[in-house]
Amino acid sequence: MKKDLFDLNSLIRRNIANMKPYSSARDEFKGEAEVFLDANESPYTTGFNRYPDPLQWKVKEKLADLKGVTPEQIFLGNGSDEPIDLLIRAFCEPNRDAIMITTPTYGMYAVCADVNAVRIQQTDLTVEFDIDLYGILDAIDSTTRIIFLCSRNNPSAALLDRETIVGLVKSFDGIVVVDEAYIDFAHTKSFVDELDLYPNLVVLQTFSKAWGLAALRCGMAYASTAIIQILNKIKYPYNINIQTQELVLKALENVAQKNAWVDEILKERMALANELKTIPLVEKVFRSDANFILAKVKHAHAVYTYLMNNKIIVRDRSQVKLCEDCLRITVGTSAENKRLITALKNYKA
Ligand SMILES: Cc1ncc(COP(=O)(O)O)c(C=O)c1O
Repeated sequence: MKKDLFDLNSLIRRNIANMKPYSSARDEFKGEAEVFLDANESPYTTGFNRYPDPLQWKVKEKLADLKGVTPEQIFLGNGSDEPIDLLIRAFCEPNRDAIMITTPTYGMYAVCADVNAVRIQQTDLTVEFDIDLYGILDAIDSTTRIIFLCSRNNPSAALLDRETIVGLVKSFDGIVVVDEAYIDFAHTKSFVDELDLYPNLVVLQTFSKAWGLAALRCGMAYASTAIIQILNKIKYPYNINIQTQELVLKALENVAQKNAWVDEILKERMALANELKTIPLVEKVFRSDANFILAKVKHAHAVYTYLMNNKIIVRDRSQVKLCEDCLRITVGTSAENKRLITALKNYKA
């Protein structure tokens, strides 16, 4: 990217650039203290009486080793939903600026934009669920601050074309967010490896999917140190609680367990896709690079309701443009997938 095309200082909202961030007690002190009378905490040991590390350095150091970045290039949020919201708040002026999304896609980009009174520009993905480059170039204008690209995309489960993403990152003068929530389920390179090349690139990942820790609420944004400093400036001071920090750290010490689960899901994904293809009700099973499968099903909404009545919950996407008549099915355990298949086989219109 041409250095002069992207200027972080002019992109950040003026009030955010000028504000003084909240300085917590634990931010100001570094070193080995013995008596803590600074934060109005309870002195009685419960395991939780002290505020946690606001910048979660232990987790970030471990994660940095795993991802080949520096700890300063990592932001940890209350799910990756938190950095989605913070990026919009940091870079988009309410009632003036816009974000760009490629639909159908993950719903929170639009929700966070709406909450922040930020306009949504959108263009449909192609019928193969890939990026429509000219559609994006047509839709963006001088108010576009962030382009959100979800790869593997939710709900289509498809990988977006890498060269097109790189082209956009290189030519766009705002932020490009590549959401890699499902990165572990396909054997492709992560955009985290490209961070040093592109100062306007932000990559999102999460502990909610392959790592099996959705309930802990921990997601990551990887970016330049300068962008991460802006997110740190505006986040709530203690956004990741101590139990989450400790349990995420423990998970990071056992990457082999995550990899074993991923292998299992990939096996189950293939078995589930093959089974679905044998059911006459199922008209099409889309290729998946994630831990879910999009399937086109006759009478999709009725099938969704029937499954729910059988206590099986899938996601009804039948009203979503380009996903007409589609259900989105998360890959479960072998037993769960079999129960779904049996129920689908027993469906009577
Ligand atoms: C593409 C995508 N990004 C982000 C998220 C949010 O993940 P988290 O649990 O980290 O907030 C999801 C959740 O389904 C998702 O599908």
